[in-house]
Amino acid sequence: MLTKCLFPAAGYGTRFLPATKAMPKEMLPIVNKPLIQYGVEEAIEAGLTDIGVISGRGKRAIEDHFDISYELEHQIAGTSKESLLEDIRKIIEQCTFSYTRQINMNGLGHAILTGERLVGDNPFGVLLADDFCTNGTGVLKQMVDLFSEYQCSIVAIEEVPEEETHKYGIIEGKEMEDGLFKISNMVEKPDPADAPTNLAIIGRYILTPDIFDILRTQEPGANGEVQITDAINQQGKKRMVLGYKFHGRRFDCGSIDGFVQATNYVYETMKS
Ligand code: G1P
Repeated sequence: MLTKCLFPAAGYGTRFLPATKAMPKEMLPIVNKPLIQYGVEEAIEAGLTDIGVISGRGKRAIEDHFDISYELEHQIAGTSKESLLEDIRKIIEQCTFSYTRQINMNGLGHAILTGERLVGDNPFGVLLADDFCTNGTGVLKQMVDLFSEYQCSIVAIEEVPEEETHKYGIIEGKEMEDGLFKISNMVEKPDPADAPTNLAIIGRYILTPDIFDILRTQEPGANGEVQITDAINQQGKKRMVLGYKFHGRRFDCGSIDGFVQATNYVYETMKS
């Protein structure tokens, strides 16, 4: 049963300094809602209501966000402002939130391994909140539907401009059906000259729990960090791993440009 979703959220968000000096980057708002709340809403839509946050120092605001604020609720009770907290209240009722701290920043693979105790021996989703996805059915829901058919690890992919391959994990594979690739190889952040394709992994994964055994012995890769891309690549040597070209629109909210574009997009959508 797929009910669990990990949210790696220990990173510093240095690209947004000074905004992220005392505030987690996952709490940066797109209009009036923090990035991580959009992510949790996407997980809920996919039926993943056991939320596991891989947290770190200075991330307490995330825990407080997904909790009742009695003082505030009392203050606005009976006023027109009350409705503004309706959505987040529903989220708190629907989900369980568990937190674990990543003590050393050894990469995304290491962050996911840190979450092992939160997911146990179950398949699970991973959502990187700074890849903000919108427009229609949530990406995780699309992937969960695929998982029920194939029962294997799945990464969300999209085509990126060739000069940007160095920012992403890149997959290579055979297109089995429209937009669905059986992966034969994956490379983390290759230079354009070394990239096998321009099919980039974006921050949505469904992983089977055998990934943890691989991660335990995974050597550091690109940037000297333990890369989830390398671990999934190993997994793909033993069993099927899929790349799925999701439907929808993604904004890279880990960059200032993407963040501003997402903000404008959501604002325009809210107005219309
Ligand atoms: C991570 C992954 C990378 C993936 C990207 C998607 O990189 O390592 O494979 O393409 O997320 O956003 P990061 O952005 O953390 O450097």
